[in-house]
This record gives sequence, structure tokens and C-alpha cells, in this order.
Amino acid sequence: MTLPSKRILLIISGGIAAYKSLDLIRRLRERGASVRVILTKAAQQFVTPLAAGAIAGERAFTDLFDAVTEFDIGHIRLARDCDLVVVAPATADLMAKMAGGHADDLASTVLLATDRPILIAPAMNPVMWSHRATARNLAQLQADGVKTVGPNAGEMAEAGEAGTGRMAEPLEIVAAIERLLAATGTPRGILSGQSILVTSGPTHEAIDPVRYLANRSSGKQGHAIARAAAEAGAAVTLVSGPVKLPDPPGMKVIHVESARAMLAAVEAGLPADAAVFAAAVADWRVAEAGTQKTKKTTAGPPTLSLVENPDILATVAKRKTDRPRLVVGFAAETERVVEYARAKLARKGCDWIVANDVSKESGVMGGDRNTVHLVTARGVEAWPSQSKEEVARALVARIAEALKVPATPVK
Ligand SMILES: Cc1cc2nc3c(=O)[nH]c(=O)nc-3n(C[C@H](O)[C@H](O)[C@H](O)COP(=O)(O)O)c2cc1C
Repeated sequence: MTLPSKRILLIISGGIAAYKSLDLIRRLRERGASVRVILTKAAQQFVTPLAAGAIAGERAFTDLFDAVTEFDIGHIRLARDCDLVVVAPATADLMAKMAGGHADDLASTVLLATDRPILIAPAMNPVMWSHRATARNLAQLQADGVKTVGPNAGEMAEAGEAGTGRMAEPLEIVAAIERLLAATGTPRGILSGQSILVTSGPTHEAIDPVRYLANRSSGKQGHAIARAAAEAGAAVTLVSGPVKLPDPPGMKVIHVESARAMLAAVEAGLPADAAVFAAAVADWRVAEAGTQKTKKTTAGPPTLSLVENPDILATVAKRKTDRPRLVVGFAAETERVVEYARAKLARKGCDWIVANDVSKESGVMGGDRNTVHLVTARGVEAWPSQSKEEVARALVARIAEALKVPATPVK
């Protein structure tokens, strides 16, 4: 697999070559990538959202003002929850809109809202391609950092027309994607031969069959770490609490609800070379969860008596057998972040703590960015504010470096 865990957002615009994009989706998925598809209104004249969605394994997106999409994912998340945006085919019209910064439909809005690299595969009639307006737009897009693949010379769909304007073949587009992602992603292979266990998301602690205690963790940071580790060549086991994120491809994913189930899954996932505990595990659970729904009565609200949950990080860090060589915990604090993280490092017996400020003002819980401190026995490193993917890649690079030292636990 040349694109393990890579997330491609494919925008199909209204050209005759749109049918080839269905093959492109298939080729990308064969290589381990997940593909999310947006079709412009004109693209739907050539291929249906149903066909694109069926091949992608997830419904295709078409409308900017679709309430379901907006509540479900939202156009901004569509623009950011990917490693690369690919426009294939890119019509003359969509190139003009991109060059001008227009945002009047889902495709153009996402293209303006994304901070990810963009690759376009232009496809159009040779006269449209050689038109000065298209040349101007292409020059502007290239100056803006947009990468291109094709177009190729050859026969056009229109009878008797030939010249430059044919969309690059799906496999040429795949090769361009591989080159681009190799240049921007986690260095491939730095964790090959290593096994990494990652926990992610919140836990849900039952009060009764319908109610539970939970927290605001989205799982974005933990899932990003699992993905970055898989991209770096590790065999990854991801133990995930209840999250709204898709399972990252190319790894074993175990879904759990409670802290106790998470501990059991983690212990079953050992041995591992390194373990990263990014899940926000509930500290407490209700002493005795009801077996039936607790009814509202005139006696007033029930009193919930809480007991402590198992401490997954400390349990694994203090194991006598099968302790991973590197045990990394996360500390989410709303104040005195570094001071509490240092204390946690000593108390839990782990090797590193990634400390983050999750106060309401930081926007970290559920957000796309993170500002962390890496606390080790050697000291504290303040990392700059970065996307959660960047934090994940930086952490994975550090883990790879630490695991190079053989046999003894890494400090
Ligand atoms: C049969 C047919 C084929 C077309 N093929 C192309 C094409 O290959 N490239 C292109 O730039 N426009 C092509 N067009 C024109 C676009 O569909 C039109 O400009 C449309 O507005 C593009 O919308 P979009 O950029 O939002 O997808 C074609 C139109 C028709 C009717």
C-alpha cells in the first residue's frame, strides 16, 4: 500500500472526463487511502453522486446549503479533514473560480477554505485550454501553490478534435498524489517493524441503560496520532472510545465505551513497542449503574455515588511484564498545565507526558489545532501552535527517534 491512511478529498467538476474519476477513487482506495467526494452541479450531469459514493464507500457531497451535511460535517471540516484536495477533472470554469477566489457552491467554497495542498487535473477542449483566460488562471493558481498534473495531448471526446486538453490518466494522477504526499507527510518507514498502541476519544460511563457520564474529547488528536504512526510504517492498534470520526484505514481499530473496557482492550493489545494514551478516560464511574432507566419521582433527583475508574496509563506504565518501551500519556489541564504535567509524569511512572491546555478559551476540545508541551525526564519543550495532524507527525517523529535506542526503556 503506497497511500496507507491518507485522506483524499476528491472534487469532481463538470467535464466529460468525470467518468475516469470513478476509476481514480478505486485506484486510491486500493492503495490504502480513504476518499471523500464532492461533485459540482455540472459534474452530476456526467456521473451520479450514488456511483461516486458507492465506490468511495461513503456518501458523496453536493450542496453547500445542505442542512444534513452542515450539521454532520460542515463545509469547513470537509475542507480540513484530509491530507490533500484533488480536483479531477478540473474544468476551465472551476479553475477560473479558484483563481478568482469565488465561493458560490460547495466545491469552490471548500477550495477556498482549505489549508491543505491542492492538486488539479485540468481537462477541457484544446481551444479552451490554450485560451489566454485559462492560461492566466493557471499561472495564478500555480503562483498560489496549486500543483497540476496533465493535461495530456491526444484525441478529444468531441469527434475530430485533437490537441492538449485530455485529463491525465487515473494512474498518472495517483503517481502525482504519491509524490506530493511523500513530500509533505510523515517520512515513510521511520516506524516500520514497530508496533504502536494508541487510545483515543472519550469514555462513556453508564448511569443507567440510557444515560451516561462523558467528556468533550472528540478523538481528533488520538486518531491523528494513530494515522501518522501507520503512515510511518508502524503496525497500529487504535483503541477508540465513542467518537464521530471514521476508522482510519490500515490499522486494527477496537471500539469500546467505558474505561474498564478500554483497559481490557489495551491489555489485550500488548505487547507493543510504544503506547500513546491520548484518550480522555473518565476518572470516575457511577458505583452501581442501574439496569433499568431511573425514573423521575416526587422524592427528588437521585444521588449519584461515584467510584474511581482504573488508571490505564499508570497500570500499563507500572507493568512488570510487557511494558512498552515507551509509554506516553496525555494531560489535559485547564490551568497550571506544565506544573500538573510534571507531577503526572512522576506519579504515573510513564516516560513522556504531552500536556495541553484544554481551557474553554484554548478551543482545543473538538477543535483542529493544539498547543502542547512535551514533558520528559529531561525537561519541558514548548511546541508551537499547530494543527492536530502536525502535532501527531511531530510526536511520531520523536517516538521513532526514541525507539531507535534498543532494549532498555526510553526516558
Ligand atoms: C458534454 C459536455 C462536456 C463538457 N466537457 C467539459 C470539459 O471537459 N472541460 C470543461 O472545462 N468544461 C466542459 N464542459 C462545460 C462545463 O460543464 C461547464 O463550463 C460547467 O459550467 C462547469 O461547471 P463546474 O466547473 O461547476 O463543474 C462540458 C459541457 C458539456 C455539455
